[in-house]
Amino acid sequence: MTFNNRSIELCLVDSRLKLHRRHFVDRALTLWLAGTRSPANILRVKRDNNHMTSVTRLLILITLLGSMAFSMAQTSSEIFDGPAITVFPDHEKIGKSYPLKRALADGKQLFIAKFNRADGAGRPFATEHNFPTRRSEPGPEFQRIAGPDANSCAGCHNQPKVGGSGDFATNVFVAAPQFGTVLNESLNAAFVNERNTRSLWGIGGIEIAATEMSRELIRQRDTAMQQAKKSGLDVEVKLNAKGVSFGTISVTPEGDMDSTRLEGISPDLVIKPFNAKGTMVSIRDFTDVALNQHHGIETTEMFGETRTGFKDFDNDGKENEFSIGQTTALTLWQASLPAPNNQGFQKHPGFKLFKQIGCDSCHIPALRLQSNVFNEPNEFNREGVLAPADTKNHIRMPLPLTREGKGYVINAYTDLKRHVMCDEKRKYLCNERKKQDKVPLNEFMTSRLWDLNTKAPYCHRGDCTSITEAIEAHGGEAGATTDAFDALPRNDKVTLVKFLKQLGSREAVH
Ligand code: HEC
Ligand code: HEC
Repeated sequence: MTFNNRSIELCLVDSRLKLHRRHFVDRALTLWLAGTRSPANILRVKRDNNHMTSVTRLLILITLLGSMAFSMAQTSSEIFDGPAITVFPDHEKIGKSYPLKRALADGKQLFIAKFNRADGAGRPFATEHNFPTRRSEPGPEFQRIAGPDANSCAGCHNQPKVGGSGDFATNVFVAAPQFGTVLNESLNAAFVNERNTRSLWGIGGIEIAATEMSRELIRQRDTAMQQAKKSGLDVEVKLNAKGVSFGTISVTPEGDMDSTRLEGISPDLVIKPFNAKGTMVSIRDFTDVALNQHHGIETTEMFGETRTGFKDFDNDGKENEFSIGQTTALTLWQASLPAPNNQGFQKHPGFKLFKQIGCDSCHIPALRLQSNVFNEPNEFNREGVLAPADTKNHIRMPLPLTREGKGYVINAYTDLKRHVMCDEKRKYLCNERKKQDKVPLNEFMTSRLWDLNTKAPYCHRGDCTSITEAIEAHGGEAGATTDAFDALPRNDKVTLVKFLKQLGSREAVH
């Protein structure tokens, strides 16, 4: 049983918040008594110590005060620096009385701000889970693996400048926080998915593309359901959006759907373009989770009083750490990061080889969009993330995408679909053991290649030091393409890799 200085400091923070003295003693006792680890998903710290006699309470209090005096001599719990967050946009006013341009500048400030304790950095009594989860004993303030693991978003997303990708040293250990301080388990691939920092160039256009595709797939399902109802017969439909096939569904007149033949998408038919696994719907969805996981900054929409009943869910002494407006500004700034424009490179001889051996079947060179307007919030956001029904202000931000015909085009080199990436012959990419959102362990979202020029290292774990190794790692559905690459004459391999290496060397990046 340990009673560390951090828990005592927290009691002091609570006492500064003028908690009732009896409550303060109970709280201190609870923290102390919670010395043994209990399941991480305890939503409330248990507070019923009423069975204790007043004498026991007094004795323990005296001991506590002794340790506190010692602790106070060592540290001050007041932060004289002031907070790093200096902007307070109101979501309802953005794009109206609060200019979009100003919100974008705020978003950048929030992305580079090195959060400190006055901002609410740290989450001693909450885990990384996006489903608000409390813990009964305080977690570590900084823990490179289990998190909080960084001071700012830009601490990882900085290659070759703010908003970009990151070195292997910026890897994140997904699901590690559930093990708290148990480092051996946190590092063990049997429990934890290690991922390399992905660049955020052009992700506004990616979210627009994903939304248009989800709408289309849902429309195809709904039409089939209406037909089945009308005819009284089962209806089968091949799902396809922007030329990408997502397998087949069949629906019954009663409205049931057989999803066993779906490919590369979950049964909700919502494309989730973000993270290596393709499980995050929107930039906002990711931002809410990243703020908590990496920094212990808890957003009002995900962890605030309305959802959890607590103003200070992580119990770090700071209430309402990140407002809805601040989350909006941070999201909009990321969405506004320019899309690398690689159109000129399609004249490169390597592009011909890329198509010739079938790399373009997954890495689609051009996705066509109907609209260039980024909508905030996204209509497919999950519970806990701001949705259109939660606000009157539906922000529309046009992005400077390349025009083509009546629409727009993005040269991201992805199909926004998940693929099986390993088999008996090429096992490299099947290095994960922890399932996310029920997605099979061998499936990954097709990486965007439009920023390869500044992206190194490669592969979801960032353990491919070169484009060549990344190609050789492709197995499963991509196995035949890898065989075709292997069969190319040496000069053609050099030309193909040269072509890929140029992607993203203009526009966004310099
Ligand atoms: C410790 C390093 C680290 C920090 C700090 C960090 N990120 Fe990330 N970020 C990552 C990694 C790693 C991924 C890829 C995750 C995956 O594939 O599962 C990622 C992915 C993302 C994505 C999705 C990109 C995509 O295409 O899939 C967004 C959006 C994002 N981060 C935003 C943020 C924001 C906003 C912050 C600050 C609140 C932040 N990140 C802080 C490492 C970091
Ligand atoms: C069946 C679909 C598929 C085919 C075909 C395919 N890829 Fe990929 N590619 C992927 C997926 C999925 C990933 C993400 C792998 C991961 O998560 O590590 C990827 C990743 C990559 C990466 C690493 C990108 C990064 O940022 O880490 C490169 C480079 C790449 N592919 C190039 C190619 C080339 C060149 C070809 C043709 C020889 C090809 N791919 C064929 C699906 C495919």
